[in-house]
Amino acid sequence: MALVNTKKMFEMAYKNGYAVGAFNVNNMEITQGIIKAVAEKKAPLILQVSRGARAYASISYLKAIINVVIEENPDIPIAINLDHGDNFETCKQFVDDGFTSVMIDASKQPFEENIEVTKKVVEYAHSRDVVVEAELGQLGGIEEDVVGVDDVSKHVADPNQVVEFVEKSGCDSLAVACGTSHGAYKFKTEPKLAFDVIQEIEEKLPGFPLVMHGSSSVLSEFVDLINKYGGDMPNAMGVPEEAVSKAAKMGMCKVNIDTDLRLALTAKIRQVFAEKPGEFDPRKYLGPGREAIQEMVSHKLDVLGCAGKAAECM
Ligand code: G3H
Ligand code: 13P
Ligand code: ZN
Repeated sequence: MALVNTKKMFEMAYKNGYAVGAFNVNNMEITQGIIKAVAEKKAPLILQVSRGARAYASISYLKAIINVVIEENPDIPIAINLDHGDNFETCKQFVDDGFTSVMIDASKQPFEENIEVTKKVVEYAHSRDVVVEAELGQLGGIEEDVVGVDDVSKHVADPNQVVEFVEKSGCDSLAVACGTSHGAYKFKTEPKLAFDVIQEIEEKLPGFPLVMHGSSSVLSEFVDLINKYGGDMPNAMGVPEEAVSKAAKMGMCKVNIDTDLRLALTAKIRQVFAEKPGEFDPRKYLGPGREAIQEMVSHKLDVLGCAGKAAECM
């Protein structure tokens, strides 16, 4: 049983210049695809559940699936995180449900209010050995109704706020907006991250784990399949993998990936339906989708540099 919080993972990731993949869980096939790759590559793992996932599948089903993953993989350190908790009550509920990490995302609130609510979550979570991720800056993306970043400078955290925020709130890791956004349409023109900002923040918070949201690469392999088999995703664009690898070496200890999972599953399902229009057995299209997720995650673990690092994170 290797249910852990993220402390040791982040300590090792920071020290050794890699990032731990945080993958969003919405159903059994997605989760099985992730863990098969992770177990094969012996990587540390963060599984995370969003409010949307909980609304779709219910926390009891998701927790049951995650519990099987934990029980069957005692050699893999696994943290379970609430993704984008919107208030204290939601965070409290996930702490009480046995999550080992919660994100309080009060980044839309004024700076002082963000500190205040984060501090309240930290006090509750820390008394139960649960770690807290907070967020600074406007990330952009679907949740914030900003689709596609055109001017990176509008979507970055202010490096002059990070020290005060971390000291006053007591958070364990910090998601810093650096030009990424959620979803499959991250950039309007060329994909560009604010590496100067990441570096400045890292210099102000040496040794402190940073988190990158919106890190999917929107792989053309899957977008092309989707478009080939009846989909319509023009101008889909993600974070180039070289940029993700570079950020992982700059203190970004947790890298969030959801969209790439969705694209892999969708692409394979579309392909099966196009090639076998008579197919009606869900196992015959969800199965290939699950395999595509496994291959994609396996590749991603190399991009993040966390393959083979499970043992040192225990
Ligand atoms: O935060 C973004 C994640 O991709 C979760 O998205 O709220 O649709 O589950 P969701
Ligand atoms: P993507 O949409 O790039 O996969 O980002 C997911 C995320 O940040 C979840 O919190
Ligand atoms: Zn996010």
